[in-house]
Amino acid sequence: MPDRKTPGPEQARARISELHSLLNQYNYQYHALDEPLVPDAEYDRLFRELLDLERLYPELIIADSPSLRVGAGPLNTFSEVEHKVPMLSLANAFTDTDMQGFDRRVRERLEVDGVEFAAETKLDGLAISLLYEKGLLVRAATRGDGYKGEEVTANARTIKSIPHHLAGKDYPTTVEIRGEIIMERHAFDQMNKQQLQQGGKLFVNPRNAAAGSLRQLDPTITAQRPLSFIAYGIGYHSDELIYDRHTVIMEKIRSWGLPVSPDLTRVQGLSGCERFYQQIGKRRASLPYDIDGVVFKVDRMDYQRQLGFVSRAPRWAIAWKFPPEEETTRVVAIDVQVGRTGALTPVARLEPVFVGGVTVTNATLHNEDEIRRKDLRVGDTVIIRRAGDVIPEVVSVLMEKRPADSVPFIMPTFCPDCGSAVAKSEDEAVTRCTGGLFCPSQCIQAIWHFASRRAMDIEGLGDKLVEQLFRNGHVRNVADLYELTLEQLSGLERMADKSASNLLNALEQSKTTELHRFLYALGIREVGESTARTLSTHFGTLDRLMHASVEQLLDVPDVGPVVANNIHAFFAEAHNRDIIDRLQKNGVNWPQPDMNRPRPLDGKTFVLTGSLATLSRDEASDKLTALGARVSNSVSKKTDYVVVGDAPGSKAEKAEKLGVAILDEAALLKLLE
Ligand code: IVH
Repeated sequence: MPDRKTPGPEQARARISELHSLLNQYNYQYHALDEPLVPDAEYDRLFRELLDLERLYPELIIADSPSLRVGAGPLNTFSEVEHKVPMLSLANAFTDTDMQGFDRRVRERLEVDGVEFAAETKLDGLAISLLYEKGLLVRAATRGDGYKGEEVTANARTIKSIPHHLAGKDYPTTVEIRGEIIMERHAFDQMNKQQLQQGGKLFVNPRNAAAGSLRQLDPTITAQRPLSFIAYGIGYHSDELIYDRHTVIMEKIRSWGLPVSPDLTRVQGLSGCERFYQQIGKRRASLPYDIDGVVFKVDRMDYQRQLGFVSRAPRWAIAWKFPPEEETTRVVAIDVQVGRTGALTPVARLEPVFVGGVTVTNATLHNEDEIRRKDLRVGDTVIIRRAGDVIPEVVSVLMEKRPADSVPFIMPTFCPDCGSAVAKSEDEAVTRCTGGLFCPSQCIQAIWHFASRRAMDIEGLGDKLVEQLFRNGHVRNVADLYELTLEQLSGLERMADKSASNLLNALEQSKTTELHRFLYALGIREVGESTARTLSTHFGTLDRLMHASVEQLLDVPDVGPVVANNIHAFFAEAHNRDIIDRLQKNGVNWPQPDMNRPRPLDGKTFVLTGSLATLSRDEASDKLTALGARVSNSVSKKTDYVVVGDAPGSKAEKAEKLGVAILDEAALLKLLE
C-alpha cells in the first residue's frame, strides 16, 4: 500500500512546478535584489521537498530545475567551447599619467571635448560567459585564452546568484552575459576555517579559491563552495540591442535578475574618473570582496563602436589598478610580544617590502597554532598581505625557497618580559603570560592603551615614553600619570623642558573626557569602544555601572555572559576601584547625564554611511545617541533611518531596496536641532 503522504504523479507534477517558481523567486530576491523573502531554513525545506519529489519521479526533472544547483554527475574532462565574440582583456593604467593618456586618446579619436564614462570596480575573480537562449541558461564557459574556453555549465548552475531563467521579457533571444565569479571574503574565511577543521587544503586568497572551486570536474563540489557572480557586460547577442549606453545595458541586465555591482556609476571625464578612483580606494578594504582596481568604459555604445579594439583590448575601456595588496619578502626573525591582556603574539620581522601602499617591516603571526599551520620559519620567503589599514599578515610560505638548515619555531614557555610561566587554555589558541600586574609589558600596554587617542587621548604620550616612565618607576599604573611632576618629566632622557610642559598640559586636558572614553580606557577585557558606548548610554553614570549585577549587565544590548562577567569581575577588584577613585580625585571627570533630558529619538535605529561635510561619523553618532537613538552598523528592515553622506557604501543601496527612510546631511542636522 502506498504511503498516505506519497503524492501521485499528477499531484507531484503540480507541486514540482509550484516549487520551481517559489524557489526561483526566492533565489532572485535573495541574490539579485538582496532582499530575502523567507528565512534560509524555509528555502532549504522547499529545496529538499523538490529533491525528494524528483527522486520519486525522475521523469519529472526538467533541464532548468532549481535542483540542478546541487550539481550534476562528475565529468572526466571539460569540453572546449568557442566564444562567439572573443573575451578580450583590458589595458591597464598604474598612474595618473597613464589615465590622462587614456582620456586624451579617447577624446582625440572621437574628436570631442569630453566623454562620460561608466565607472565600476575591477573584481578580482575569474571571468565567465553565460549564454542564455530564450531566457534559459544553456551554456557557461571560462575565458580560457579569450577565443576558446572550458565549458562549465553544470558548475555554473550550482551558483545561487546565477539565474537558470532570466526574469522579465525584454531580453534578446540569445544573449551572452559576462561577469566575474568571485568568493566574498567572509565566505572565504569561513570556508578556509572549515577546511582547516576537516584537514582539507587551505586556499591562499579568495580569487584562487573561486578559480579552484569553479574548475571542478565534479559539480557537487562546486555546489558546496560559496561562489557568487557579478555581471559586468554583454557579449554576443542576437537581436539588435537598442540600448545606447553601457550603464543602461547594465540596468537591463540587473532587471533580468543578474547581480550587478552596486558601485556602478556614470562619471564625467578625467576628473570624474579620478574622484571615483579615490572614493573606491578608500572603501576598498571594507568591500565584501577583493578588487584590484577600477574600470572605466566609454558609456556611449556608438562611441565604443567607433573606437574599436587594438591588439587584444578595447580602446574604449581601461583598468586603473590599485597598488598590490600582496608581495613576497623574507622573514629575518620571529619575536614574541606581550600584549595588554598578557597574550603572547609572535611577530615576523621582515626584509622591508612595499605593499598596500606602505613599506612593511613586521607582520603579526597571531599565535602558535597559526605558525605551526603555516609551518613558518626564520629565513623563509613568504607572501605578505596588507589590505587597507589592516595589520600586515603572512599569507603563506614559499616552501621551494626554504633554506636547508631552517628549524621550526617554538613558543617560549616563560614570558619573555617578566619570566612568569605562560598558560594556554584549551578553548583558546592564545598563549598568555600569567604575570598580570607583575608583568611590565602588560602594565606598559595598559597605560599606553589608556592614553591612546580613542581612549583618554593624552597627546604626546607614546609607547617609548610610557616604557621609560614605567621602567624608572615614575608611573606604575594609570592613576600615577596624573601625579607626574615637571621635575620628573624634565629629568627623562631626550625630554626637553618644552615637551615636558606640553605633556603636563595634555594630561590636564585629557581630564575632561566622556564616560564611554573612560570606560574604554580602563581596558576591561573585551570591552571595546562600541560596548563602552552602549554601557555609558545604558547606565548613564559610572556609579551605576560599578554596582550593576551580572544579571543587570546581561540586560544591556550586545553584552553576553563573558563580557558581563569580565565587567563585574573588573569592578569587584579592590585594586581597580582604588585606581578609579584616585583618577577621579586627580580631576578626571565627564559630564553627568541629565536624567530628565528629553530623548526624542528613543527606540529609533540609525545607520550612517559615507562621509559628512560638517561632522565626523563619531560626532554624528554621539549626537544621535545623546537623543536616545541607537546607531547600528548594518541596515536591516528594523533600521529607521539611513544617513547618507558623500561616497556612501552599499548600505545606501540596501536602504533603498528595503524602503528604509534616507536622510541626507541637511536633514540630519535639522533632526539634531
Ligand atoms: S570588462 C573588453 N569590467 O578583468 C572588456 N572586466 O583584465 C572586458 N574584470 O577578463 C572586460 N572586473 O575578468 C570588465 N568591471 C569589469 C571587470 C572586469 C573584473 C576582469 C575580467 C577581465 C579582466 C580583464
